[in-house]
Amino acid sequence: MHFFKDRGFAHPLPSEVTPPAVYAQRRALLRQWAAGGVGTALAGWAGRDALAQGSRPGKLAPLPGARSAVAGATTMEKPTAYADVTTYNNFYEFGTDKADPAKNAGSLKTRPWTVVVEGEVRKPGTYDIESLLKLAPMEERIYRLRCVEGWSMVVPWVGYSVSELIKRVEPTGNARFVQFVTLADRAQMPGLRSSVLQWPYVEGLRMDEAMHPLSLLSFGLYGEVLPNQNGAPVRLVVPWKYGFKSGKSIVKIRFVDKQPKTSWEEAAPSEYGFYSNVNPGVDHPRWSQATERRIGEDGLFAKKRPTLMFNGYEAQVGQLYAGMDLKKLF
Ligand code: MTE
Repeated sequence: MHFFKDRGFAHPLPSEVTPPAVYAQRRALLRQWAAGGVGTALAGWAGRDALAQGSRPGKLAPLPGARSAVAGATTMEKPTAYADVTTYNNFYEFGTDKADPAKNAGSLKTRPWTVVVEGEVRKPGTYDIESLLKLAPMEERIYRLRCVEGWSMVVPWVGYSVSELIKRVEPTGNARFVQFVTLADRAQMPGLRSSVLQWPYVEGLRMDEAMHPLSLLSFGLYGEVLPNQNGAPVRLVVPWKYGFKSGKSIVKIRFVDKQPKTSWEEAAPSEYGFYSNVNPGVDHPRWSQATERRIGEDGLFAKKRPTLMFNGYEAQVGQLYAGMDLKKLF
């Protein structure tokens, strides 16, 4: 989100526009590929883009997931290439440019790792990441992720519903919201030197949102553990909300009775509300939210896609917001 550097209007970053020479080269490669003339020099490029469900990039430890039975958990859209999913990221703890997390997140130590569960629960405690990995069966969920900046991806995540953990810690009747607190360690995260956000990065959901089966506690993608830049070793993925609701590298889950603070709301309350549901009918104060650019389809003449209400998950989650004014409660 580059509005802090770029007050005024939203325009694509140079890195978001494919240079014409690269575009022409890609067209040539595609023609060659179609004609059956793929040489070994092209195998890397073509292989990466062809990588889809079922195939592993082979870069990190395997973490397979069974196909999920949760309604809406598997979009039929083509997954975004692994290379794009892991190099075009928002993880401000490692820098604000899209390429920064992939460059800088190598310093993140993901073992040992614990997640503290506290607040309005009968069974608070500290969960070791190894025990979290075994808490429930791993599933593969192919979700669209739509960033508030106007781009989207399709990612084969691996994990299980957050509700699996919530059920086990037995929330009390006072638990109305869940806050997710992520790691803030200056020694590992160069981005904390910047005051672009208040650290730690915090996010929150209403209890019924967190309990919805589509709300995912994710430990992996593309059949392997999460790359650091995507929020290792554990992150949230809430597919019907803008990407920033999906906190990365979670260290604490807190059950509370009042609507908790969230980082983006604190930084710019008029631009980022608590709910942050994907809603093409509510413009961001400085740009439209009606369309989106799919990462990987960013040739010069690539058409933008219309953004769908609740990012296309309306059938599954629409009833959570029945009777709410989603223009006011954005
Ligand atoms: N979590 C933390 N801790 N820090 C961040 O800066 N950025 C958010 C979200 N989670 C962010 C975060 C935003 S704005 C988006 S769009 C998604 O992560 C991006 O996830 P991805 O890089 O895996 O696509």
